Amino acid sequence: LALPVGDDALAARLHERLALVEEALAGHVRSRAAFVTETASHLMEAGGKRFRPLLVLLAAEVGDRPDSDEVITAACVVELTHLASLYHDDVMDEADLRRGAVAAHTRWGNHVAILTGDFLFSKSSELTAELGGDAVRIQAQTFTRLVEGQILETVAPQPGEDPLEHYLEVVAGKTGSLIATSARYGARFGGASREVEEALTAYGEIVGCAFQLSDDILDIASDSGESGKTPGTDLREGVPTLPVLMAQASTDPADARLLELLAGELTDDDLHAEALGLLRKHPALDQARAYVVARATEAKQHLAAVPQGPVRAALEAFADIVATRSA
Ligand code: FPP
Ligand code: MG
Ligand code: MG
Repeated sequence: LALPVGDDALAARLHERLALVEEALAGHVRSRAAFVTETASHLMEAGGKRFRPLLVLLAAEVGDRPDSDEVITAACVVELTHLASLYHDDVMDEADLRRGAVAAHTRWGNHVAILTGDFLFSKSSELTAELGGDAVRIQAQTFTRLVEGQILETVAPQPGEDPLEHYLEVVAGKTGSLIATSARYGARFGGASREVEEALTAYGEIVGCAFQLSDDILDIASDSGESGKTPGTDLREGVPTLPVLMAQASTDPADARLLELLAGELTDDDLHAEALGLLRKHPALDQARAYVVARATEAKQHLAAVPQGPVRAALEAFADIVATRSA
């Protein structure tokens, strides 16, 4: 994810600040136990887009003290929380590849992977305490939503509940929450007004949902070279995603085979490949893309509270990149 910044001075500042975050993160994943340092630094060193820290830094630019140390700390908090959740997520999704590297549970087993997630989450909590009681409360509320979203994903919609609505609630919880908090922390610790903080939080929530929905599209459309993950993982695990839900709404008789495949288990390699092939050329993929672009547009409307200028332009570009990303 390239830095979506046209203004050179702003781009240079963000690069510089992001380097500080990176340096701090390298310290935070260290443990007194060498083995824990190895497992906890594994995913951080494998790469990652640092999407959440970047949003913290960018949102902080809206305020009158974007240079505060608290902004760097907040950026570390959200990335550590995110990293923690990935260790757990790959266990739940039985995903073997993450950021182009072998997933932690594949390398060290589920117990180590889960406890490493806990370790990173503890580190993140310790750091949140430095930001004060309000930040601790926000962090706890965010964590609640992350966990609720992740659990709801494993539960079918209630009778009478629209599957797409259910799914959007999952997405808001498991991804919208932490990205909303990234924007909130940036605004708050960068010294923005309460009104701007609320607007940026609302923006972050929708950008976060759009980010997850494009991730869903990539699960179908990308190859592992681009995404650093195994394509079709959601499909194989039976995790419903936007393009699949949209395809399932089709009444076109030509879709009979796809619908039959989607209704069954896709753990068999041949059936999985057949379903993936059919989805890749299905109009639901473009329909899903159009939906995500519409969410990005909705997110940008919340930026009306931010003065016109390079920072607002970058936040707008950030929403657009999320909607159209290919990795
Ligand atoms: C990735 O989704 C997963 C998340 C965004 C959230 C996971 C949240 C938890 C495991 C609960 C919180 C746990 C801790 C310790 C903070 P995905 O599987 O759709 O995306 P992927 O393609 O990147 O795997
Ligand atoms: Mg996953
Ligand atoms: Mg998952």
